[in-house]
Amino acid sequence: MENIEIQLKAPNGRTVVLPTGLFINNEWKSGSAKRLETRSPTDEQVICSLEAASAGDIDLAVRSARAALTHASWRDISAAERGQMLHKLAALIYEHKEDLATLETWDNGKPYSVSLEEDVPEAVACLRYYAGWADKIHGQTIPTTCQKFAYTLTQPVGVCAQIIPWNYPLVMASWKLGPTLAAGCTVVLKPAEQTPLSALFLAKLVEAAGLPPGVVNIVNGRGQEAGHALASHMDVDKIAFTGSTMVGKEIMRSASLNLKKITLETGGKSPLLVFEDADIHQAAEWAFIGAMSNQGQVCTATSRLLVQDSVLPRFLSALLAIITRTVVGNPFAKDTTQGPQVTQQQYDKILSLIGVAVKEGAKVECGGQSLRETAGRGRGYFIAPTVLSGVTSSMTIFHEEVFGPVLTVTSFETEQEAVRLANDSIYGLAAALFTRDVERAHRVPQLLQSGMVWVNSSNDPNPQVPFGGIKQSGIGRELGEAGLSSYLETKSVHLNIGAKL
Ligand code: NAI
Ligand code: MG
Repeated sequence: MENIEIQLKAPNGRTVVLPTGLFINNEWKSGSAKRLETRSPTDEQVICSLEAASAGDIDLAVRSARAALTHASWRDISAAERGQMLHKLAALIYEHKEDLATLETWDNGKPYSVSLEEDVPEAVACLRYYAGWADKIHGQTIPTTCQKFAYTLTQPVGVCAQIIPWNYPLVMASWKLGPTLAAGCTVVLKPAEQTPLSALFLAKLVEAAGLPPGVVNIVNGRGQEAGHALASHMDVDKIAFTGSTMVGKEIMRSASLNLKKITLETGGKSPLLVFEDADIHQAAEWAFIGAMSNQGQVCTATSRLLVQDSVLPRFLSALLAIITRTVVGNPFAKDTTQGPQVTQQQYDKILSLIGVAVKEGAKVECGGQSLRETAGRGRGYFIAPTVLSGVTSSMTIFHEEVFGPVLTVTSFETEQEAVRLANDSIYGLAAALFTRDVERAHRVPQLLQSGMVWVNSSNDPNPQVPFGGIKQSGIGRELGEAGLSSYLETKSVHLNIGAKL
């Protein structure tokens, strides 16, 4: 197929030229599955329709990634050159930041200021961080006997499948592509069907960055069809997935077919502990950021507040005052701080979980309702930022991931009780705690069952620092050196330098 590009006139007046095909082997191809339609969550209208991958198209993409892995244009270039390509990709993303931010906001609903000033720079920073790693990957020499020289080679794990979600489409693509390319792997990346647009624009930049054909393949498609085909493909070496715990389990089963290496970054129900010795205002500010950012659609959202009873009234009134600053509405409007939820499905799920919480005895301190009629003037998946107090560990809302702008408040008396409540979850992704007691600041993180702990902040990740969870929040780590090592294999070489048998 020819590269069929469409001109999209975005609600902010910008015209973006976007390819609609499957990006395989640095070419645009048509897909043999039923075309995908993506909607804007702001007005619920279809933005455009796109080619979608079938199992056969996925096979083609995997073959091209396999061929590229051993092609001289990728395998034999220097590590420094790989780094330069990543730097170039980062620079191109920055150069096209308005187009990318426009697509992201239109497709996902997050405020344009967030797409432009947070998401694009975060994607750029992640790629630059891993660009720096490319020529600093090396093995070890290992002393054994005089007649042997033993050493390790760190080599790319191979062909990687990457399945990403809709909450941070561009950022998640960069978290996946950065370490993959630094390590010298090749990749087939499948964006979420709810937010396929920014990845298509990114694909245009892949070739411009000088990446050889087949190294990065980006194919849109449905989870059950394209995603499943990718996860169960017998010639994929590793799969990296971010999304729901339920699908994570399915991916693990598919991966077992050929023992793919897996990294999973799944759900969470992360607690935020406020002790009476905390700076209460600071705690309230971070609690708001930690739970309400990105319309609450964050895997590490610290949405389960545990507050020491002696400071509960003070904390709650500080938090409610901060929440009144929220402006819910059209994400392209300058003053908007909260856009719509991503889909009708997510909107329904959130409102239903709020309903269950109220039925089970939670008190609505603010929000609790749809803002479709007001903020959206009859359209869009808008929900008011919601605080539910009086929540106990026997309630559904204490345990279920909401993935929306909903915070629950539970009180505790002692540190021991706080830790017990914090750990009362099938998840173990992140946690935050607020205290000015330096001993407690060291002690409590050791006791919390989570992959990440923020002390006196929440949800301010950095590309240098490992990110991931324990329990049913996932397997393995992204970001940092740990994220890179999941794309590398260690090969041991025993070199006999003289000993005769
Ligand atoms: P999902 O887990 O279905 O989707 C994530 C990705 O997996 C998408 O690219 C999708 O196409 C793909 N996928 C779906 N089924 C698949 C399969 N059988 N094999 C391979 N790939 C498959 O998530 P969904 O339904 O969009 O959201 C549901 C809930 O998941 C949310 O309410 C939230 O609780 C959680 N979630 C967590 C995320 C995180 O960052 N950890 C991101 C998105 C959702
Ligand atoms: Mg969309």
